[in-house]
Amino acid sequence: MKYPKDLMNEVLFTRKQIVARAKELAKAIKKDYENKPLTIVCTLKGAVFFFTDLMRYIDNDCNIEFMKASSYIGNTTTSSGQVKLTKIMDFEIKNRDILIVEDIVDTGYTCQEMINFFQENGCNSVKICTLLNKPSRRKVDVDIAYVGFEISDKFVIGYGLDYNEIYRNIPLVGVINPKYIK
Ligand code: IMP
Repeated sequence: MKYPKDLMNEVLFTRKQIVARAKELAKAIKKDYENKPLTIVCTLKGAVFFFTDLMRYIDNDCNIEFMKASSYIGNTTTSSGQVKLTKIMDFEIKNRDILIVEDIVDTGYTCQEMINFFQENGCNSVKICTLLNKPSRRKVDVDIAYVGFEISDKFVIGYGLDYNEIYRNIPLVGVINPKYIK
């Protein structure tokens, strides 16, 4: 099935632009964590496309892990504010330097919850790297070390980002046409 032509109002970032930005961020991450074993955590499901772009350019001593974070309920475009975290497989946190890879930071609740989780479990350090940042929607103050792109208060889809679990496989980031929001 193909998605309708008018699904998006606007294309914000093409795959080429995202890969180029991932390369720049990876360079900064490589430098910051030189000689430090690093645990890079991909936040499922949304960050998976960006995560693989990033990882292709990071050749540090690191291991990769996956966590699922959910805060949206059903077909809404706003966070419930209650974040559920699930470790996909058990991994070592104590004394590790952790880098969380996110698709988008909106209210900041998910990042805050993840940072608390890693700190409570004895990590050495924890930082955030996100493809997109919506600072105008922030409800809690979170420090984001690496930002791909800042965007305004628009609901975006594609490149891992969904609306009601669909559209993740669109190979670019665009603003959803409100007529497709139920
Ligand atoms: P936060 O906890 O409000 O910062 O939201 C983080 C999560 O909300 C992200 O990981 C996304 O899954 C989802 N989210 C926030 N804004 C958007 C958007 O514009 N499109 C799709 N998902 C979004």
